[in-house]
Amino acid sequence: MSTEPVSARGGPLLDVRNLHVEFRTREGVARAVNGVDYAVDAGETLAVLGESGSGKSVTAQAIMGILDSPPGFVTQGQVLFHGEDLLKFGTEQRRKVRGARMAMIFQDALSALNPVLNVGEQLGEMFTVHRGLSRKDARAKAVELMERVRIPAAKERVRSYPHQFSGGMRQRVMIAMAMALEPELIIADEPTTALDVTVQAQVMDLLAELQREYNMGLILITHDLGVVADVADKIAVMYAGRIVETSPVHDIYRAPAHPYTKGLLDSIPRVDQKGQELYAIKGLPPNLLHIPPGCAFHPRCPLAQDICRTKIPPLYRVSEVRASACHFWKECIGDDRPAADKT
Ligand SMILES: Nc1ncnc2c1ncn2[C@@H]1O[C@H](COP(=O)(O)OP(=O)(O)OP(=O)(O)O)[C@@H](O)[C@H]1O
Ligand code: SF4
Ligand SMILES: [Mg+2]
Repeated sequence: MSTEPVSARGGPLLDVRNLHVEFRTREGVARAVNGVDYAVDAGETLAVLGESGSGKSVTAQAIMGILDSPPGFVTQGQVLFHGEDLLKFGTEQRRKVRGARMAMIFQDALSALNPVLNVGEQLGEMFTVHRGLSRKDARAKAVELMERVRIPAAKERVRSYPHQFSGGMRQRVMIAMAMALEPELIIADEPTTALDVTVQAQVMDLLAELQREYNMGLILITHDLGVVADVADKIAVMYAGRIVETSPVHDIYRAPAHPYTKGLLDSIPRVDQKGQELYAIKGLPPNLLHIPPGCAFHPRCPLAQDICRTKIPPLYRVSEVRASACHFWKECIGDDRPAADKT
């Protein structure tokens, strides 16, 4: 975890500001990302949470420069990487940043990897293309990487094809690909969702270990509030393409400052509540072609008042390190909020 103040190093590694992305479809304009602000520093893990369709992946694609365009367009905002706006970079400049300085890990390794190249060739390509290594040296590097992500019998398996690996091992291959050029930032989009529970934990532990060792910034996109408690430093909760709450991880578990976050937390199954019916947030996420006016969460919110139907809540400052886009964050946080947060 980073302890140095951000200002001392001239700003965060990645600073996304007021990002807007829309999809221009035949049915209309889907406003998938509506003013996202988040930042991540070297050595820091930001978990991005939210239900399906909240814009987590689209935000990541816009940061990486891999947005499906058309129909997707960034219409506003900045993606500052070391203070430079990547949205102003040309295609070739962005391609150079991708892989070498920031890399992405996807949920589905089988479709992200090339089925007709063995993993040694795919890993090796990172070094022949980006670093000018010979094929022989690149293969040795590939074996080294496979060992680094603890794939057993790496020397033999370097000639295997993606489909010959188990799901967990394939995910390790993808982590190795992402790590190959030692990027400063990794975006992992639901990296363990497709795996069974024990393998999920092993892959997550590996990712967290590498992140610490290489002092990388990590953006971890997930549905699963249970997973993030151990690995994340801070959390950004997304709803209908906006950040509705940002907070250091432990504060949010103790006292959520947004009713949506509270709903997500209350939906986690708990061992001490076995047999009780699990809480679910009522209703469904909005149709992005017709986002409700005011606070997009109001049709589902137990605390909604008249103002919520007309006025979009800005991100209110809850404390030095926390913010909530709820007009009634004080009511939400209640008296349970930690002493450090009370003003
Ligand atoms: N290629 C596309 N064409 C049209 N609309 C798209 C496209 N990709 C995404 N969208 C729109 O953007 C919305 C947000 O998608 P996104 O993939 O970011 O959600 P997510 O938060 O990552 O959800 P999940 O948890 O299911 O992965 C979608 O609901 C959809 O309306
Ligand atoms: S602004 Fe209103 S509707 Fe939105 S989360 Fe807060 S209380 Fe609920
Ligand atoms: Mg997604």
